[in-house]
Amino acid sequence: MKPASLSMRLGLTVSILGALLVVFLAIMAYFALTHELNALSRGSLEKKMEQVEHSLSLYPDTGDIRSKPHILLDQVMGHDNLTLTIYERNNLRTPLLKSGSGMADPRVERKAVRGASDQLAYSTSTDARGAKFITLSRLIRLKDGTRVPVLLSMDNAHDEALLSAYQRSTLIALPLLLIFIGLSAWAAVQRGLAPMREFRKVAAMVSTQDLDHRLSVVNMPHELSELAQGINVMLHRLDAGVQQLSQFSDDLAHELRTPINNLMGKAQVTLSRERTTEEYQNVLVSCTEELERVARIVSDMLFLAQASHPSALAPFESIALEEETLKVADLFSLSAQDKQIRLNVVGRARVSGDRLMIQRAISNLLSNALRHCPNGKTVTLLIDQGATQVSLLVSNPGDGIEAQHLPHLFDRFYRVDSSRSRSQGSTGLGLAIVRSIMSLHQGVAEVKSLPGAMTVFRLGFPVTDRPL
Ligand SMILES: Nc1ncnc2c1ncn2[C@@H]1O[C@H](COP(=O)(O)OP(=O)(O)OP(=O)(O)O)[C@@H](O)[C@H]1O
Ligand SMILES: [Mg+2]
Repeated sequence: MKPASLSMRLGLTVSILGALLVVFLAIMAYFALTHELNALSRGSLEKKMEQVEHSLSLYPDTGDIRSKPHILLDQVMGHDNLTLTIYERNNLRTPLLKSGSGMADPRVERKAVRGASDQLAYSTSTDARGAKFITLSRLIRLKDGTRVPVLLSMDNAHDEALLSAYQRSTLIALPLLLIFIGLSAWAAVQRGLAPMREFRKVAAMVSTQDLDHRLSVVNMPHELSELAQGINVMLHRLDAGVQQLSQFSDDLAHELRTPINNLMGKAQVTLSRERTTEEYQNVLVSCTEELERVARIVSDMLFLAQASHPSALAPFESIALEEETLKVADLFSLSAQDKQIRLNVVGRARVSGDRLMIQRAISNLLSNALRHCPNGKTVTLLIDQGATQVSLLVSNPGDGIEAQHLPHLFDRFYRVDSSRSRSQGSTGLGLAIVRSIMSLHQGVAEVKSLPGAMTVFRLGFPVTDRPL
């Protein structure tokens, strides 16, 4: 079965709740009305009984009531729905005085007369037509001290008519009201969910080739605009990721093409005719160098891919930066000696990080510095404990780097002099690796260069909380 739509579900829920509320209110109103009408009837009966009592107290005896009933009858004159009945205590069969049509049920009347006392007493009855009567009874003292039972009956036909009119109108209005509530709820939900169509439109357009679409959050309700913003951020990240991935595969194909072509060319030329063992050996040596370069590119690319997943990181530890720098400097000491370059490590500070990754970042900078430093000069590795950052500055004198290259230096496969770098076996991935290591450490990697004079690379680590 097809699941019910959201607007249908919400519409139905609101309708049912609205219906329950309206029915509850209608029933409450009915009971309140009944109670109020009853109280009004009783109030007017009691008031009238007081007047009758006052009049009767002026009658000397029962005979006077019979001879001059008009004073009492005047009391109920003009009240069509009121009946006054007075009995003698020794004759409860025929009333002494009776106005109006009388009570509905003679049995109820007789019971009320017999039971009449000094206290006010109420009884109710229904006549043959179904009309309801409410009767107030009491014993009232005449001037001579005789006590006579008095009944005051009120025909409640008006109240009954009012109540049944209320019931009828409620029964007619209620279904209409419920339909109105249901439709309004459905329309309100439809209106509220209208911006969802924008989501569907954008989702239908997005693909790996086309990730430019974004949701417009203008005029969107607050709850949906947060969702839309979240989706936009996700699309932005996916876009960046897909672009990075396609750039990555383009770069990789481009970088691997040259060494593979070289290898193929060398092999084909070598196989074109018979060669001496020495010639074969030379070709194999040069092929091995080329293959080493391919292997380095692949391992560097794998490292970069791994470094872009923070989960691959070992837990950070507190590291003495000068110790790691000295270790790396030690590894490069032989190649430095070859060029009579002095390695100078100055300063100390602690950072929090992954030891092997930090060593790799330092060694990438140091290998560059040594490659570009003229013979006989000094490469300085300066550690500086700043207020907000710990810096490691790797500086070397030399030709420096032209300003236009600086913004791209940390990009993958970017080399200032690509042909010379390739021939030297470099991959152009060293600084890209440095940058991703630093971003994993929430740090920065920067470069400043004075062409013809000096190049300085800076690694900036966040200051660690641990005591030195
Ligand atoms: N200290 C430096 N002085 C002058 N130029 C430099 C220095 N360090 C890096 N560069 C320039 O920046 C480019 C990019 O450096 P990067 O380390 O990323 O690649 P690479 O050194 O060419 O290759 P790899 O590090 O993989 O062997 C280099 O080709 C070089 O031209
Ligand atoms: Mg390098």
